[in-house]
Amino acid sequence: MFRILLFVPSPNAGSNVPLKWPVIKIANLSSLDPTKPLRFNYPLVETPCALLKLGQRADNGVGPDSDIVAFSNICQHLGCFYSVLPTGTSPPCNQSFTSSTPQGYCCCHGGQYDFAHAAKVIGGPPPRPVPQVTLRYDSSTGDIYAIGMGAPTIFGHGPPGTSDAASVLQNDLTGGTVVTDATVFSTS
Ligand code: FES
Repeated sequence: MFRILLFVPSPNAGSNVPLKWPVIKIANLSSLDPTKPLRFNYPLVETPCALLKLGQRADNGVGPDSDIVAFSNICQHLGCFYSVLPTGTSPPCNQSFTSSTPQGYCCCHGGQYDFAHAAKVIGGPPPRPVPQVTLRYDSSTGDIYAIGMGAPTIFGHGPPGTSDAASVLQNDLTGGTVVTDATVFSTS
């Protein structure tokens, strides 16, 4: 089943509280399986993302092999949730397609994203990559944290394709409930 997400004005619009990205622990290196992407919500409860250990070096990848990345799971075309395909797998809507690289595949209109290259669009109608989650890897524990989102804005959050950092922060934290987690990585 696919969902279309619509922009909703923030209930906190007009607040004087400075906005900042939440910092949450997502996983530990020891628990990652290259064949099983891990989904989590970030930076809002309503905005799903996917964490992947690609098994190959990736743009902005973290971890011992620089192969751990995460992206918004909401397609930049019209807001469907896309499938996450490890190499050699097929999306549920198209068994004749087999991925030759770790990628996203949107069953709504065939949009495809290359996860090793910052979600570059490699097929279908999406006008731009899905935003990448900024990750931090703690080499002493193996823990992996989400600490921010890159441009563009998550689909449905502000004008499509907004890319300057302040606007991305403002819009991505608008229209839902910011995630919280008791296990917080110190950024100081
Ligand atoms: S909504 Fe994803 S390709 Fe159209």
